[in-house]
Amino acid sequence: MTASPQAGLAILISGRGSNMQAFIDACDSGRLDANISVVISNNPDAAGLQRAAQAGIATCSIDHRLYTSREAFDQALVDCLAHYPVDLVILAGFMRILTPVFIAPYSGRLLNIHPSLLPKYPGLHTHQRALDAGDKEAGVTVHFVTPELDGGPPLLQASVPILPGDNEDALAARVILQEHVIYPLAAQWFLQGRLQLRDGAAFMDGQAIPATGIPYRAETS
Ligand code: GRF
Repeated sequence: MTASPQAGLAILISGRGSNMQAFIDACDSGRLDANISVVISNNPDAAGLQRAAQAGIATCSIDHRLYTSREAFDQALVDCLAHYPVDLVILAGFMRILTPVFIAPYSGRLLNIHPSLLPKYPGLHTHQRALDAGDKEAGVTVHFVTPELDGGPPLLQASVPILPGDNEDALAARVILQEHVIYPLAAQWFLQGRLQLRDGAAFMDGQAIPATGIPYRAETS
């Protein structure tokens, strides 16, 4: 008997790709029951592209600077993904604002990770903003993507303490360890059919997810 085909992931990156690497590792270890069909970058020099190629994954570079509009670039992404089996699209440090040209066809199967405790600090420089505000904790959120930047409904959120003497780099280093844990976990939940986007709201096992996402604890599974 032939095994049923594994779910296909597309991962979109712009930089070093440490979250992408976490997905590669999670697939290899069996924690994530999926196959990475393709890694796409808008940045031809993204280090993550080389990491993906070394892991034997198809890569595609689509340089946004060659397109006259965001919509034309997004259509090129859609056209590229049409060549691969894709059940879920993972934005992993993808530094382009997407338009409905891309978001609409993948709505409900498009995830992003944002390094803050959303709804706090959408946008850039999240760690510095948390430090400047005197926050006691920071963190990271996996969320469904909607046309509002970093505004789609949160799914899973991990917190870390802000410690005396922290600077942006120290805090980022603490947060990214959590990113690498919760992002593949959220993807696994999605592929198990546990997560859904309905009428702009997120559900887990049929229950509405709180506005800040499900709090991650080590025992969360
Ligand atoms: C991560 O901090 C992620 O939360 C943010 O961009 C960064 C990407 O890092 N969206 P990497 O390329 O996955 O290492």
